[in-house]
Amino acid sequence: MYELDSLATQIRQCSRCRLSRTRTHAVPGSGSDTVRIMLIGEAPGFHEDQQGIPFVGAAGNLLDTLLASINMSREQVFVTNVVKCRPPDNRDPQPDEIESCRGYLDAQIELLRPQMIVTLGRFSMQLAFRGVSITKVHGQTKRVGDILYYPMFHPAAALHQPSYRTFLEQDMRRIPEILSSLQDSEPGPKPPVPPAQLTLF
Ligand code: URA
Repeated sequence: MYELDSLATQIRQCSRCRLSRTRTHAVPGSGSDTVRIMLIGEAPGFHEDQQGIPFVGAAGNLLDTLLASINMSREQVFVTNVVKCRPPDNRDPQPDEIESCRGYLDAQIELLRPQMIVTLGRFSMQLAFRGVSITKVHGQTKRVGDILYYPMFHPAAALHQPSYRTFLEQDMRRIPEILSSLQDSEPGPKPPVPPAQLTLF
């Protein structure tokens, strides 16, 4: 946990972009350091900014319900966002803000080395899928290097448009089967990456 913790400290003190000037708390991420699955959202909202913890508002409640539907809890995953500070009025994160924050996300992925990354919404989907609509690719897997990416709608979308909830529930339900297929094909956990190999910008 040490490197993840020191990375979180760095994130909390970050002033790389304008979002640092309007945030209350940066939100590095939360969960276990030995996970097979990482979930990546868009950006902290009001409650996350207040508490410094990801997905603690209404969208987070739905995320917890969806995880519970496959007998998973936050302790079995690591949850973070593309940008670690709240954009004012919950506007979309801007390209330069995403770029400024990218090194933190890359470092978290390198440290955690998850087998599977679930992207929540169209911003984190860009990590593996570009130029396509989330409506087309949600629920489809794509391998990039050692990691299987799995795009899902953002839970907040289902709060605004209840019809998305069915897609979220269906896509979530497939995760255990996908994870067990990965377990079958992968010999076991990989050794941790020595800190010297980490690329932090
Ligand atoms: N929406 C996100 O994308 N992330 C959060 O942490 C909360 C809401």
